Amino acid sequence: MDNLEKLLEKAANKLKAAKRVVVLTGAGVSAESGIPTFRDAQVGLWEKYDPAELASPDGFQANPKLVWDWYEYRREIVRNNKPNPAHFALVELEKKLPSVVIVTQNVDEYHRSAGNKNILELHGRIMENRCFKEGRLLKENELNHSSIPPRCHCGSYVRPGVVWFGEALPSNTLSEAFTHARNCDVCLVIGTAGVVQPAASVPYYAQQSKAFLIEVNNLPSALTSIMNVFLQGKAGEILPKLINLI
Ligand code: APR
Repeated sequence: MDNLEKLLEKAANKLKAAKRVVVLTGAGVSAESGIPTFRDAQVGLWEKYDPAELASPDGFQANPKLVWDWYEYRREIVRNNKPNPAHFALVELEKKLPSVVIVTQNVDEYHRSAGNKNILELHGRIMENRCFKEGRLLKENELNHSSIPPRCHCGSYVRPGVVWFGEALPSNTLSEAFTHARNCDVCLVIGTAGVVQPAASVPYYAQQSKAFLIEVNNLPSALTSIMNVFLQGKAGEILPKLINLI
C-alpha cells in the first residue's frame, strides 16, 4: 500500500466512526469546476484594479458600475459551469454519515446545486441581489433595470449578496459554524489556503474539542501543520476515493 492509500484508509476509518462531521471548504473545491478564485479572476480588464476597489462598500460607492460589471463577469462564469466530483462526493458523505455540516467560503452555491442539504455559507451567495442601503434580499422582479447597477424600489443601487472586504460575516451563520466545529468529532478541510478569518478558525475550534482533522489540498496550506491527516491532491480526485472507502 502506498502512503496516500494508507492515509485515505485512516481518514475513512475516522469518518466512518464519526457522529458529527464539519467540512470546511474553500475555492479549491470549485477549482476543477473552472471557477477561478477572486484573485485568479482578476485578469485582463480587471488586472489593474485593487481588490478593495472591486469588493468593498467604499469601492461600490465610488464606482458602482465597475463593481457591478465585475460581479456580472464572475456570475457568468458560475452560470456557465457546474459542480464537479468533489462536490458530489460531499453529497455522498452527507448520505452516508449521521451528521455532516458543510461550512463554505465559496459563493457559487455549487454545494447546494450538487445536492448537499446542510450548508452554512459564510461569505454569501454571488447570484443573490441585495439592496445596498437596506441589505434586504431582492427577487429578480423587484429589480429596476433602467440603470447599471439596477436599483431597488427604494431608489438605492442593488449589490451582489456576498460579504465584501471590511464587512461582517452573517453573525448567525458564523456562530452556527463555530458551534458545529466545537462539537464535531471529525473536521474535514478542503481546498482552502486557511488564511482568511474568521473562516480559518473553524479547524482550530474543532482541534480544541479534540476532533480528528483531515485536510485535502493539492498544496500544503496555513492549516496543514495542525492536521492529523493531510491528503495531498486534487479535491475532485481525492474525495471520491475517500468517500468510496466509507
Ligand atoms: N483541489 C484541492 N485544493 C486545491 C485545488 C484542487 N483542485 N486547487 C486549488 N486548491 C487549493 C490551493 O492550494 C489553496 O490552498 O485551494 C486553496 C485556495 O486558496 P484561496 O484561493 O486563497 O481560497 P480560499 O482559502 O477559499 O479563500 C478564502 O478569501 O478570496 C477571499 O472571500 C474569498 O472566500 C474567499 C476567501
